Amino acid sequence: MLNSPLTASASYQALDQLAPAARQWQLRDLFAADANRFPGMTVDAAGLFLDYSKNRIDARTLELLIGLARERGVEARRDAMFRGERINLTENRAVLHTALRAPRSEALVVDGKNISDDIHAVLERMRSFTDDVRAGTWLGHTGKPITDIVNIGIGGSDLGPKMVCLALRQYAHPRLAMHFVSNVDGHDMDAALSRVNPETTLFIVASKTFTTTETMMNAQTARAWFLQHASEDALARHFVAVSTNVDAIKAFGIDPANMFPFWDWVGGRYSVWSAIGLSVALSVGYGYFSDLLAGAHAMDTHFKEAPLAQNMPVLLAMVGFWNRQFLGCGSLSIAPYHQDLNRFPAYLQQLDMESNGKRVTRGGEPVDTPTCPVVWGDCGTNGQHAYFQLLHQGTDITPIDFIAALRPAHEYANHHSALLANCFAQSEAFMRGKTEYEVRQDLRAQGLSGDEIERLVPHKTFPGNRPSNTILMEYLNPYTLGALIALYEHKTFVQGVIWDVNSFDQWGVELGKVLAKQIEAELTGTARPEQHDSSTNGLIQMAKAAV
Ligand code: F6P
Repeated sequence: MLNSPLTASASYQALDQLAPAARQWQLRDLFAADANRFPGMTVDAAGLFLDYSKNRIDARTLELLIGLARERGVEARRDAMFRGERINLTENRAVLHTALRAPRSEALVVDGKNISDDIHAVLERMRSFTDDVRAGTWLGHTGKPITDIVNIGIGGSDLGPKMVCLALRQYAHPRLAMHFVSNVDGHDMDAALSRVNPETTLFIVASKTFTTTETMMNAQTARAWFLQHASEDALARHFVAVSTNVDAIKAFGIDPANMFPFWDWVGGRYSVWSAIGLSVALSVGYGYFSDLLAGAHAMDTHFKEAPLAQNMPVLLAMVGFWNRQFLGCGSLSIAPYHQDLNRFPAYLQQLDMESNGKRVTRGGEPVDTPTCPVVWGDCGTNGQHAYFQLLHQGTDITPIDFIAALRPAHEYANHHSALLANCFAQSEAFMRGKTEYEVRQDLRAQGLSGDEIERLVPHKTFPGNRPSNTILMEYLNPYTLGALIALYEHKTFVQGVIWDVNSFDQWGVELGKVLAKQIEAELTGTARPEQHDSSTNGLIQMAKAAV
């Protein structure tokens, strides 16, 4: 436990003193004053390149930010995580998603047990099962190869596999169509079932706890639908489960041979590396799934070994902390300039906001600064034609993470140049802006009258000075994707250490779940109406009247 609040630390106080002046800095000036700003504020690791030079920081700010990371104990907490200490204090659990991607030779003994053996035993089972399904030797109950895979899960049991399958669509097996059903809204299941054939569909029920209402309801619906077309004996060819809750899987009626276990030290939002990644391995094959793990492991090694001042996750975290704390940025926009990373912003929402959307420290005291920003975004260039207006000229300053691959996996070279040009142009525009003087010059060159120019100047001026990071990779492939996800995992971890929150629990999701159970019972008439507030009572009455 950290004994002193964040704002009492010496590095924080030095940063706080620097901040009023830093708020006046102009990125244009910082670039003009230092021709080496780009090489000085970039770092390579695990196939990724990070340019953080377009942030309102200088060498002194960085030094203090790194000092703060050291003072808050990032290195010791990082090492404790990798060692398997029970750093998730409110659930008394270790946090070992990093062990899932470590090579077999890196044995890790936790509570007297070599967990590396368990991990690799499950990986072997995943390899053999996915090989069979992909080769067409795993047959449906009428003897036909599998053509469709429906992953039933929600939160981390959906977002990771779905995001990765989309991102690696170039590597997907041509016979296997992937479907993801997460929402308790029956339209989600309805849409998936309307597209698949019970003879050739494999359902993966993915749930760490195997108690999540949405997943259990969806799994029961899928089972009932399947049994309209086949007998109980056929279930074993079409239903597999991934969970830590072996008893619940058995109770659901899934063949124990079709279970892929994982462990309580894998958090839901960190579970794509575990058997929760089964749909990924089915889609891209075990070899590419291993490459995904290898990329993440390379980032883990960098995070463990690189000095803090050259450590990519630490730098990304500390610059983000600076923007949040001292520039007052309440949100972070993620802009992948890669269509296949379409779901990456949604994935990061859970990773970051479920981890660090906390208001008390590990010791239960209020955190004395703002914590996690709202994370959101969409692919470039689409976002440019929607919300970038606000990012350029709105009243809030929203930092942006641009993510792009230098080489495409398609043959349309002109598209790729246009894409990268837009990505780099946006980060330049956010940094430079356009001054009143520049706007006047432009309008004068267009031949506008003095009055017209003055009327338009405020509307056409861009304040600029808006921070961004750019993350580049050569190609988006399993290895670089693994490294990218691990980069953001460790960034989230570091910020959690700075705020001294427990980044690994998620109690904030519980209250709504409990209330929903009671209201559902009222809606279905299995419980007497409770006295809610007049709004909730009114809404319940409307829903009942509509039945
Ligand atoms: O309700 C939140 C949550 O617990 C997430 O943390 C988790 O990823 C998701 O629900 C799904 O949980 P499970 O895998 O246990 O079904």
